[in-house]
Amino acid sequence: MTLPESPVVLGIESSCDEMAAAVLRGGREILSSTVHGQAVVHAPYGGVVPELASRDHIRVVSEVVQTALGDAGLNVAQLDGIAVTAGPGLVGSLLVGLSFAKALAYANRLPFVGVHHLVGHLVAAEVAADLSPPYLGLVVSGGHTALYRVTGTGSPKLLGETRDDAAGEAFDKVAKMLGLPYPGGPAISELALQGDSQAVGLPRPMIKQAGLDFSYSGLKTAVSVEITRRGGLEALDLAARADLAASFEAAVAETLVARVVRAMRDEDSNRVAVVGGVAANAKLRELMHSAGDREGFRAIFPPMDLCTDNAVMIAAAGSRLLERGVRDDLTLEAFSRVPLGETPWRDARSAKAERAAP
Ligand code: KG4
Ligand code: ZN
Repeated sequence: MTLPESPVVLGIESSCDEMAAAVLRGGREILSSTVHGQAVVHAPYGGVVPELASRDHIRVVSEVVQTALGDAGLNVAQLDGIAVTAGPGLVGSLLVGLSFAKALAYANRLPFVGVHHLVGHLVAAEVAADLSPPYLGLVVSGGHTALYRVTGTGSPKLLGETRDDAAGEAFDKVAKMLGLPYPGGPAISELALQGDSQAVGLPRPMIKQAGLDFSYSGLKTAVSVEITRRGGLEALDLAARADLAASFEAAVAETLVARVVRAMRDEDSNRVAVVGGVAANAKLRELMHSAGDREGFRAIFPPMDLCTDNAVMIAAAGSRLLERGVRDDLTLEAFSRVPLGETPWRDARSAKAERAAP
C-alpha cells in the first residue's frame, strides 16, 4: 500500500511510565497529542515499578488512543499508518502499546512500523527546529545519557555514554535522598530556584578525563555523603536542601555542557540537539545556550512537552520510515535494549527472509 502525500500517522509510545498517543500529518503538523503519566502510581516508591507501569498502561491504552483520535477529529479509517515504540524500554510496558498498535493495524489493514525510542527523541528536535543531519545529539533521559554524531546516511555514531547512572536517574535518586517526589528532575529544579548553586562543593565527574563518556554515580554518592555529614535529612532546613538541590543541578548541567563543548571541537561540529527528559531542565538550557554563544555553536532543544516521553516524536519518526517504504509485520517484538541506529526487529526479519530465499 503506497502512502498518500502528507500521510496522517498515529504514534503510540509506552516504553516507560507514560502512555502516549499522537496524530501527525505529513510528519510535522501535530493534529493531537495525549500523554497519560503515572507519577502518582510510582511516587510512593521513588522510581518506576515496572509491573505497576504495565498494569496501568493496560488500563488506559484504549482511552488514550481514542482521545488522540478524537482530539484530531478523526476515526481510525482516516489514518494512513501507525507507528509504535518497539524499544528500548521496559518490555512489559512496551508490549502494551505494541500489541494495541498491531491489533489496530491488523483490523484496519494499515501499514505499521516499529520506532526506536531514542530516534524518536532526536526527531523531536528535528521537527521542532527544522533541523536536519549532520548534527551532534545529546540524549539525556531517565535511562540514557549519550552523545552521538547523527548523519543523514547510516547509523548515528556513538561518541560517548554514561559509565553508570543516566543523568535523569541521578536526578531521581538525589530527589529521593532530599525527600522530594518522583519524578525527581522537575522537583529538584523547582527547589533549586530557592538555593545557591555555589553553596555546596560537589565534584564534576569525568570533566578532566579524555574522551566523551559521562558518570553520575559518584556525584549522587557525594550528595549522600554531604547529607550524612550534616546529620541526615531531618537536620537540614529548607534553605540547606535548596542549596544542595541547586549545587547538584549545576554539577549535572556543567558536566553535560563540558562534554558537548569538547565534542564540538573534536568532531568539528557547530550544532547540538539536546533531547530527552533532562533537556527540559532550565539550568541546562541556560548553561548550554551561553556555552554555545561563547564557543560558536547552536544548541537546539525541543519544546518542553516534546522533551519528556511523548508520542509526537514516535509518529514523526514513524512517518519518515513509512514514507521511505519501511514496514514491520505482526511478528514485531519489544526490545529492552537496542543501540541507537539498530533495529534488530527489522534486521532479524530481513536475515530470515534472506535465509528463506531460494
Ligand atoms: O525521556 P524521559 O521522559 O523518559 C525516559 O526515556 O527516560 O525522561 C525522564 C527523566 C526522569 O529521570 C526525570 O527526572 C527527568 O527526565 N526530567 C528532568 C526534568 N524533567 C524530567 N530532569 C531535570 N530537570 C527537569 N526539568
Ligand atoms: Zn524517553
